[in-house]
Amino acid sequence: SGPAARRVDELVRLVPDYPQPGVLFRDITPLLADGPAFGDVVDALVQTAGEVDLVAGMEARGFLLAAPVAAALGVGLLPVRKAGKLPAPTASQTYDLEYGSATVEVHAATIPPGARVLVVDDVLATGGTAAATVTLLERCGAQVAGLAFLLELVGLGGRGVLDGRRVDALITVH
Ligand code: PRP
Ligand code: HPA
Repeated sequence: SGPAARRVDELVRLVPDYPQPGVLFRDITPLLADGPAFGDVVDALVQTAGEVDLVAGMEARGFLLAAPVAAALGVGLLPVRKAGKLPAPTASQTYDLEYGSATVEVHAATIPPGARVLVVDDVLATGGTAAATVTLLERCGAQVAGLAFLLELVGLGGRGVLDGRRVDALITVH
C-alpha cells in the first residue's frame, strides 16, 4: 500500500448511522479537502488505468474523482447520471436496491463505438451501481476496460457482481 492508500485510510471519515441507523458511512470530503492527499489519490487512480478512451464517473461522488482522472489521462469524461438529469437522448439501465430500484443514464451518442472506458467511483459496496453502469456502457457499444474505486467494502459482494472485470480499489475495508 502506497501513499494514496494511507491517505484514504487516514482521511476518509467514518460517520455512524448515516444515512440511516446501522450504516457506517465513509465520507470522502476530508480527503477531497486536502490538496496533496487528493492529488496522490488521483495519481493512484490514474495508475490503475490502462489505455482508455473515456472515463465514466457515477453521480454524484464519482464525478469528483472521475473528472480529475480523465483530465490527467488526457481523455474525455462521461457522466453517468441518475434518471431524468440528462437533456439529450439517453440510454438507461435500472437495477434493484434493497428496497425499490434505481436507474442510471448516459448520453449514448457521446460514446464512440468500441470506446475503451474506465469506470470510476468512490465506494464499491454491493456493486449494484457499478454493475448497472457496466451493462449500460456495453449496451451503448463501449468496452469496459476496468473499474477503479477509492474504497471497496468487502463482504458486500461488489467484486462478485462484476465478475470477470478488472476491479481496482486503493483500499479494502471490512
Ligand atoms: C454511493 C456510492 C456508489 C454507490 C455504491 O452512491 O458513491 O455510487 O453508492 O453502492 P453500491 O455498490 O451498493 O451500488 P449514492 O447512491 O449514495 O449516490 P451519491 O453519490 O449521489 O450520494
Ligand atoms: N460511503 C459512501 N458511499 C457508500 C457507502 C459508504 O459507506 N456505502 C454505500 N455507498
